[in-house]
Amino acid sequence: MREIFYFLPLSGFYAANNSFIMHIMSELDKTTRMRRLRKGGILREMLAQVKLAPEHFVAPLFVRSGQGVRRPILSMPGQFQLSPDMALEELSDMAARGIKAYLLFGVVDAEDKDATGSHAHDPNNAVCTTLRLARDAGINMLAMTDLCYCEYTSHGHCGPLAPVPERTARRKSGRSSAAAVRRAAASADHTTVDNDATIAQLGLQAVLHAKAGADMVAPSGMMDHAVAAIRAALDSSGYQDTSILSYAVKYASGFYGPFREAAESPPQFGDRRGYQMDFRRDSREAVREACLDVREGADMVMVKPGMAYLDILSAVSQAVDVPCAVYQVSGEYAMFKAAAQAGWIDEKQCVLEIMHAFRRAGAAFIITYYASEIVEWLR
Ligand code: PBG
Repeated sequence: MREIFYFLPLSGFYAANNSFIMHIMSELDKTTRMRRLRKGGILREMLAQVKLAPEHFVAPLFVRSGQGVRRPILSMPGQFQLSPDMALEELSDMAARGIKAYLLFGVVDAEDKDATGSHAHDPNNAVCTTLRLARDAGINMLAMTDLCYCEYTSHGHCGPLAPVPERTARRKSGRSSAAAVRRAAASADHTTVDNDATIAQLGLQAVLHAKAGADMVAPSGMMDHAVAAIRAALDSSGYQDTSILSYAVKYASGFYGPFREAAESPPQFGDRRGYQMDFRRDSREAVREACLDVREGADMVMVKPGMAYLDILSAVSQAVDVPCAVYQVSGEYAMFKAAAQAGWIDEKQCVLEIMHAFRRAGAAFIITYYASEIVEWLR
């Protein structure tokens, strides 16, 4: 009885409100027809605010030392690990097809990995060699490089590890042998990268890449103050014109899975949640990260991954006064490829749709393994 008493006036309110809306609609909106502007192709084309062009896409490339190597990456159909000579072929091919920029990742042989990632500082490593080959061959593309250590360290983390307080390690292991301490360190929740040691190294890596011909370096390790350290190192070595694209907003994401096969860089223990961002936080943390990097001297910032982070991309691109890029990562690529191979989606239609979504959300350009195919499709 009581329920009905409460319910009646409420339903009366809705009913009245509804008929009011119906009234307005009948008077005003009868003449409104949204479909008028969707009627013809010319009009649709004329009104499309978001368009794609070849210069909006950056192609990532995995390079490893050797000769004549073109090793397929199984979880990323159509992508390869290339030796520098083969990468050069690939780059000339891409340039001829209208791709304007590439982003290099180094893949490192196990025997060249160590605790600090020192192979990253070898001027004859695959990344530096490829940069020099491309420059000497006059490849007319923007050369970008990923700056990180996860491909170069034996433990697969993005820089040298912070020493774990010995007491914690001993307590956890109950023993004190070096191996036991190392194991305990590995399982400690706070096992993480030594921030300041890493940024000191990053400056060195950036200068090497610039020297070899990189136009732009992209630190991806989520170390605090990395951008300032890299800017200072570049400037003091005479590379004031080398720009920094900061992976300012990078989440600890399951979508990097295939990349870790591609770059042979999975963390050997633990994960990257101690330095990459937590996707349960809202866009304010992302905006703060991006603004800090801009203040440190980032010329552009990036949001990564892409598809699951359109809200973040939108917030960040509106908050900063530098161009904002987005990275459609390996797992996103793999999902499209798998569904396309199974015949479950129209690959071209779906990929171009998400590319428009990235641009609509504010991306100045998109780093994507689909770059080559998109540029073909746009022809
Ligand atoms: C290196 C780095 C990663 C990616 C780009 N740079 C891997 C990671 O952070 O684990 C991922 C790119 C991709 O998944 O396509 N830190």
